[in-house]
Amino acid sequence: MAKKRQAWGTRVGIIMAVAGSAIGLGNFLRFPVQAASNGGGAFLIPYFVSLFLLGIPLMWVEWTLGRYGGGFGHGTAPGIFHTMWQKSRFIKYFGVIGIFGPLIIFIYYTYIESWTLAYSFFAITGKYADAASQGAMQSFLRGYQGLEHNQYFSGIGTAYIFFLITFMANITVIYYGIKGGIERLCKIAMPLLFIFGIAILVRVFTLGAPDPSKPDLNIANGLGFLWNPDFTALKSAKVWLAAAGQTFFTLSVGIGVILTYASYLSKGDDVVLSGLSAVGTNELAEVVIGGSIIIPAAFIFFGPAGIQAIAKGGAFNLSFVTMPLIFGKIFLGAFFACAWFLLLFLAGITSSVSLAQPAVAFLEDEFGISREDAVRMLGLVSFILCQPAIFLLGKGVVNELDFWGGTFCLVLFATVETILFAWVFGMEKAWQEIHHGADMQVPKVYKFIIKYITPAFLVVILGSWIYQEGIPTFFMKGVPEADKPFVLATRFFLVSIFAVLALMVKIAWRRKRRSTIR
Ligand code: ALA
Repeated sequence: MAKKRQAWGTRVGIIMAVAGSAIGLGNFLRFPVQAASNGGGAFLIPYFVSLFLLGIPLMWVEWTLGRYGGGFGHGTAPGIFHTMWQKSRFIKYFGVIGIFGPLIIFIYYTYIESWTLAYSFFAITGKYADAASQGAMQSFLRGYQGLEHNQYFSGIGTAYIFFLITFMANITVIYYGIKGGIERLCKIAMPLLFIFGIAILVRVFTLGAPDPSKPDLNIANGLGFLWNPDFTALKSAKVWLAAAGQTFFTLSVGIGVILTYASYLSKGDDVVLSGLSAVGTNELAEVVIGGSIIIPAAFIFFGPAGIQAIAKGGAFNLSFVTMPLIFGKIFLGAFFACAWFLLLFLAGITSSVSLAQPAVAFLEDEFGISREDAVRMLGLVSFILCQPAIFLLGKGVVNELDFWGGTFCLVLFATVETILFAWVFGMEKAWQEIHHGADMQVPKVYKFIIKYITPAFLVVILGSWIYQEGIPTFFMKGVPEADKPFVLATRFFLVSIFAVLALMVKIAWRRKRRSTIR
């Protein structure tokens, strides 16, 4: 008999928590930049195709797998995969990705999340008020990150303090558990996030053209700039891959976290409508709110040519350099800038706690360690692991962590779990399992989609992605010579973490075997 596990308090609670995990920096920063650089409104076509053929099916697969595994006392992929395919001795090691991936993302995500908290503080205290150009704001950011000494910062101390606060906030939430910590946080943070999002959206929509000599730089044209479709973009495979990648990232599928969250459901709990509600909430935040803030606002102030240049500099530039400048030019700007960074912080923390939970669940479920001790162990280990992301930020370490933990593992993990679900577990059994306690029937066509289309789509993405990006990245193409030793050291660091987790799985299963023989 499996030991009694934690449980969610309410249905709204788990939907908010899964939506909280999904709604993150990706919704407000990554999505608009992807759309603007991949066909504008036309991007929505591959985006929604990926959502219906990949995102929604994977959401249902992960909710179902998680709830199924939870019934056997397993909240992470090694145990869940093993329960589904007991004959295989190896599948549990594959499941290690479901703990490894989120842990790696957690290491750098928490640090970036701490910047948003710091900037909300800077916005209200006027710390960056005199950095009035792109160049000055860029140097403010670099100074904060400890990448240069300048008039704003003389070292990484401030950033480190905000990191400590953010890190402790994450660990405290997890310490209080699924219901008392994560659910409670998300029930407060999610509505607040939507209030901030809508307030900023209304403010952006009521901005007039700031320069009377350029009346075309207005909000209607800003929205047009982002959303006018360029259908020729659809001929490019790159655009389709970008859309699929965004679907994964934004929904938090393929990471392992939804498996863990769903493992705290009980057998009779619905997963169909709940999973769909989480997807719907995420899309509202992404397409409606995320798609209406940064690009249209940047258009009004910097025009189409300026925005292309900014977008090339990446999503971080838009958020930490351009947005403060824009808010600096509008009425009540400090207040809205603070709201913007708090929105990002709430989006971040509700995602990062979900990234930490699989490791805690693994220690609790497979080693019988108490939650409190498991959180202490995770806190200590992840604190040490975070340090390279902080101190070696400019050396390509974070990119490397993001590449393996936040991209490669996601696609690989999703491919394996879907094949396992539809082909090894078997589609008939899987279909029944999805519908246990369901509040709605999944359209029949999804039986076909989950069995054939989703895995085929995933294999194509994985293949093209390995070819286009995986191989060049593996050979460190484009990495500056000076960064190569750091990138190699990061790889060694990643392989070591994976090996330790795999060893822990081996030990856990050996102990279980011994205790059943005894
Ligand atoms: N799903 C999270 C995001 O969009 C990770 O940022």
